[in-house]
Amino acid sequence: MNSSASEIRDLFDRIAPVYDQLNNGLSLGMHRIWKRMTVKWSEAHPGDTCLDVCCGSGDLAQLLAREVGRTGKVYGVDFSAAQLAIAQQRAKTQPFPLSINWVEADALNLPFEDNYFNAATMGYGLRNVTDIPQCLRELYRVLKPGAKAAILDFHRPTQEWVLAFQQWYLDTIVVPRATAFGLTAEYAYIAPSLERFPTGQQQVELARNAGFTSTVHYRIAAGMMGVLVLTKALK
Ligand SMILES: C[S@@+](CC[C@H](N)C(=O)[O-])C[C@H]1O[C@@H](n2cnc3c(N)ncnc32)[C@H](O)[C@@H]1O
Repeated sequence: MNSSASEIRDLFDRIAPVYDQLNNGLSLGMHRIWKRMTVKWSEAHPGDTCLDVCCGSGDLAQLLAREVGRTGKVYGVDFSAAQLAIAQQRAKTQPFPLSINWVEADALNLPFEDNYFNAATMGYGLRNVTDIPQCLRELYRVLKPGAKAAILDFHRPTQEWVLAFQQWYLDTIVVPRATAFGLTAEYAYIAPSLERFPTGQQQVELARNAGFTSTVHYRIAAGMMGVLVLTKALK
């Protein structure tokens, strides 16, 4: 793992104890709706074996596990041990058992065989990996032919007024709230990460280069969010 990857891992280790609380407050709970949409677009079905990459505290992995049921299996992968510990704890407090394996691993070098998964999700992870093309190639490799990946993330909106709103929200709501938890720098990274993040159209191109034949990018929340839906061709 290179030094910038280990810096990212350390950052997510540090924010793990307050990540869920901040996330709920900062998105006004909306992230739950976007995550449900992402799982729907992944087309996970009962009995499937599914992957949630960059699972963090495990929201998407839990939603996938409900979708696949007792006969299915979900693997939640993250390289932050602190995030995985919280994910494991949260899953245990659910009223019904969830079939999830938590795996500490790098999204750029997934510890799974080729053509293994029926569906995959990733929430707010693609913007954080140090090599987006490699991450997409790994997703492509581990999906079965015909399977889909649905990738949710923040985006820089194209409309001026939405962009101004997003910048205002980050500067006056997000960073000050994070400051209250002693995490100013940890949350100040969001704005520059959005600057660097490829646009929806660029993501579509990168996914095609990784091998995906069907690639669609959906803008949501006035372009402040997006879901990239990728399908691996049937051979
Ligand atoms: C913003 S959090 C998102 C967590 C969760 N998916 C959600 O939607 O709330 C990003 C997560 O990506 C993980 N991450 C970043 N780069 C990674 C990599 N190369 N391999 C594995 N996990 C990674 C971080 O540790 C962090 O838990």
